Amino acid sequence: MSKTRIIALFNQSGGVAKTTLTQNLGYHLALKKRRVLLVDMDPQASLTTFMGLEPDELNQTIQQAIVDNKPLPIHSELIHGMALVPADINLAASEMQLSGAIAREYRLKNALATVQDKYDFILIDCPPSLQGCFIRSNQDFVKSISQKF
Ligand SMILES: Nc1ncnc2c1ncn2[C@@H]1O[C@H](COP(=O)(O)OP(=O)(O)OP(=O)(O)O)[C@@H](O)[C@H]1O
Ligand SMILES: [Mg+2]
Repeated sequence: MSKTRIIALFNQSGGVAKTTLTQNLGYHLALKKRRVLLVDMDPQASLTTFMGLEPDELNQTIQQAIVDNKPLPIHSELIHGMALVPADINLAASEMQLSGAIAREYRLKNALATVQDKYDFILIDCPPSLQGCFIRSNQDFVKSISQKF
């Protein structure tokens, strides 16, 4: 069984530091020589931007991996060795695009399964929403963060 810890950082409220925490948690794990993959699951793509990529300039994002079963587009070694799967605004349509698909909630899990042995931690930055079928039921650990700084 894989020892990779997959952690989704979640809260239905906006602006409560989900993305900031995801990046900083990853940074400190990377400082401790852990292999870290960040996954941007928010169409706002803040984590993608925080990590230095321009979402509008990307050809491949998490959206194609989930909707079209394309390989995960991993950008390696962006900041202190952290790798990133980026997002862009197109991710907003993905749950609707897959509304009739069987077992759609396993798309993210299946996509991560192809690479997870390469990482000690996979941290998933979630959108501010109670939706998110790709997140629920798939991860080792889903952390609902505090709404207060
Ligand atoms: N500990 C903190 N104290 C004060 N401000 C903070 C703290 N952490 C983050 N912020 C600021 O709060 C704002 C929101 O942070 P962030 O983007 O991480 O929230 P979020 O929950 O991911 O938002 P969204 O729901 O829109 O994705 C940012 O401007 C960030 O710089
Ligand atoms: Mg965010």
